[in-house]
Amino acid sequence: MSGSRIYSGEAAVKRVQEASFDLVLLDLKMPGMDGLETLKFLKEQDPKIVVVIITGYPDVETAVKAIKLGAYDYISKPFTPQELRLIVERSLERKTLSLENEYLRQQLRSRNESEQIIGNSRPMQRVYEMVRKIASTDSTALIEGESGTGKELIAKAIHNHSLRRDNEFVAVDCGALVETLLESELFGHIKGSFTGATQTKHGSLELANGGTFFFDEVANLSPNMQSKLLRVIQEREIKPVGSEKKIPIDVRIIAATNQDLRKAIKEKTFREDLFYRLSVFPIHLPPLRERKEDIPPLVEHFAKKHNKKKGKLTINIAEETMELLIRYPWPGNIRELENAIERALILTDDGIILPRNLPWYIREHGEDKGGGVSKVLATLQEVETKHIEYVLNKTGWNKSKTAKILGIDRKTLYQKVKKYSLARD
Ligand SMILES: Nc1ncnc2c1ncn2[C@@H]1O[C@H](COP(=O)(O)OP(=O)(O)O)[C@@H](O)[C@H]1O
Ligand SMILES: [Mg+2]
Repeated sequence: MSGSRIYSGEAAVKRVQEASFDLVLLDLKMPGMDGLETLKFLKEQDPKIVVVIITGYPDVETAVKAIKLGAYDYISKPFTPQELRLIVERSLERKTLSLENEYLRQQLRSRNESEQIIGNSRPMQRVYEMVRKIASTDSTALIEGESGTGKELIAKAIHNHSLRRDNEFVAVDCGALVETLLESELFGHIKGSFTGATQTKHGSLELANGGTFFFDEVANLSPNMQSKLLRVIQEREIKPVGSEKKIPIDVRIIAATNQDLRKAIKEKTFREDLFYRLSVFPIHLPPLRERKEDIPPLVEHFAKKHNKKKGKLTINIAEETMELLIRYPWPGNIRELENAIERALILTDDGIILPRNLPWYIREHGEDKGGGVSKVLATLQEVETKHIEYVLNKTGWNKSKTAKILGIDRKTLYQKVKKYSLARD
């Protein structure tokens, strides 16, 4: 259908009553009936119509409202003809292809096998939908979820489906470096700005220009760094350590956390204004124990993936093994599951993964032990507490080993030990 230009919301509604349209590009600010109202009418008239909102950059909030009202996507002004063409193409694609969930998932499938996202449970379908919605925008996103749930994988998926995909995806673990090092890593520094700064260094935020910047474990940022990040988001420029010159940057920011930021705000360890800036689009990744139906396909996927490395032929998973894998609560989530499968593959010799090829703590979890965790009445927190304690005791309270076995990082382990008041007896 050839494009047609209509100058008001009222006229658009009228035209849609007369003829059918594949796609509507809708400006939010119009004289008379405004964009949101027009959108409501258009969707009432034709629920299948694809509407792409055109918005000014500061008006992301309204754009989000529009998406809630059924707009397919939005594009911020100013945009290039190429960007517009891409978003139109992508939006029309949705019209021609059915919105089956399988399709959603395939859209997110990356060329790179290690970046494939597996799992078709309802909570994951919601995640995929969100990823698709925000990928083509430049909006900041916040991914929340326990350690090992796939936060970084999802951040990469957003990048890979965005217009920035040909530029860098840079990840920084906010808890891995002391503040001064992190600051010069992110913003760069000029020669002589501090002892050891023998050369001018470009910040990774500058190097990621045009790409996506992933702030992992953002709750670990110091108050000072939090305010610096806030400034980056607001002003889109950075100041290298020791320099007075500001450098404009163009990066999409995605942050992730395994902590409850709302609680951190109440405890005054996380800035509320930064939280709102980051969470324009919150994505919650549920723990694996809340989407157990994803376990069998994940097991198959990891078996195939790691089998290839070993060059074996076919791998089968015994039924009892799968039952144990489904029953186990996976405190380290998908990372822990992948580790368990990788190890089981090393131990199997006839290509069938048997219960005995699994780590003992997974096997024992399925057993009835008089003094252990009551299978019927235990809450997940009880199971987690007991299990962490169990592994700690088995490793002689070696935190590194324990964290590795559980598939979580040491920091998370420390937090849990504190939270559950675990102590050596
Ligand atoms: N849905 C999934 N499908 C396939 N692999 C996954 C999935 N989610 C996570 N993984 C894998 O599990 C590991 C942990 O994921 P990651 O994104 O690092 O988790 P997080 O950042 O939440 O700790 C990675 O190797 C990742 O590729
Ligand atoms: Mg991570």
